[in-house]
Amino acid sequence: MLQGKHILLIISGGIAAFKALDLIRRLRERGVRVTPVMTAAAHEFVTPLSVSALCGTKVFTELFDLTSEAEMGHIELSRAADLVVVAPATANLMAKMAIGQADDLATTLLLATDKPVLIAPAMNVRMWDHPATQRNLATLRGDGILICGPNDGDMACGEFGPGRMAEPLEIVAAIDAAFGGGPLQGKHVLVTSGPTHEPIDPVRYIANRSSGAQGTAVARALLNLGARVTFVTGPATAPPPAGANVIAVETARQMRDAVHGALPADAAVFAAAVADWHVVGASDQKIKKTKGGLPTLQFGENPDILAEISQMGAGRPGLVVGFAAETEDVIAHATAKRARKRCDWIVANDVSPASGIMGGTENAVTVISDSGAETWPRMAKDAVARQLADRIAAALEPT
Ligand code: CTP
Repeated sequence: MLQGKHILLIISGGIAAFKALDLIRRLRERGVRVTPVMTAAAHEFVTPLSVSALCGTKVFTELFDLTSEAEMGHIELSRAADLVVVAPATANLMAKMAIGQADDLATTLLLATDKPVLIAPAMNVRMWDHPATQRNLATLRGDGILICGPNDGDMACGEFGPGRMAEPLEIVAAIDAAFGGGPLQGKHVLVTSGPTHEPIDPVRYIANRSSGAQGTAVARALLNLGARVTFVTGPATAPPPAGANVIAVETARQMRDAVHGALPADAAVFAAAVADWHVVGASDQKIKKTKGGLPTLQFGENPDILAEISQMGAGRPGLVVGFAAETEDVIAHATAKRARKRCDWIVANDVSPASGIMGGTENAVTVISDSGAETWPRMAKDAVARQLADRIAAALEPT
């Protein structure tokens, strides 16, 4: 799908700009022609000489460069490629794109192009989480801009969280998907993620420590392979992946309704940490302290969404994947859970406090299927997600 394509690659000025060199190499290996544009700030991080050498062509930088304009005008440059890719896309560049500012060559091209645009954001976690950036992201998404990443992880600035640019191969996969070439193109995958909150009264609830990081990473990896993803999420701390159809819920019962409403799907991945119980007769009013008395909570069982979908007969997704959060005898409990719920695969992980997995950045999983239990080495949640998405793609028949 990528062979013979032409990409206009805009490199903006962030520390992740060095990864653009590897991205160029990976694209060139796949027969892609890359025309590079660098912002002035990008020159602080990579040299035009390296970019030019890897692309095998000159680097465009200046808006009012007479030689460049004589060879190819900036309007022509903005339209010559099949796809415009911005990697890295800094918070500043995203802000300019969102308001349509055109004060240098890169932003002018982005405003003038009639081709699809894909951005790979990269910035400090606080900059990414800032309401201004999230507002800009929503605007860009609404404008039809394709978004790849960012990933969670350790950042060059020493902080941790979302903001790290997607890896070059992930961007290549997203480019492939933009051209309609991902292995999951035409497939609909449903992903549940995050915790659920079960209200006690209007201000209190029962919850768990899930951040939603693993489910979000799985959804992102599936999107990168071209899937259409419905992402049903409880109140997670991880922001939902760009490009997914996000359905936000609070309770397990709402999650179940949303899951049923999202079917049919070719595959479903249940990464949510669903509360097993809800409080029966949750109060409409805040429960007041009464002297010497303690409230008594009565629990009711929540629907087991994974078991319901695994056993639904007609309309069951072709592949149903569950997660098993265990604190002891991980493989034995997860194997029994798979048999009990009747899902196809179960991804078992050790969530005992000593493992640091719940709410952490890494995961150590064992995938249990008909062919037995396969333990994967401990790796970043993003890497687990990519491996799982590849496996899902291999398991689903091509359309
Ligand atoms: N799950 C679900 N609905 C529930 C409970 C769990 O869909 N009400 C799904 C989870 O998303 C996960 C799998 O079932 O994919 C296993 O979740 P886990 O919490 O490990 O298992 P439980 O069924 O809750 O069993 P237990 O708490 O006894 O370990």
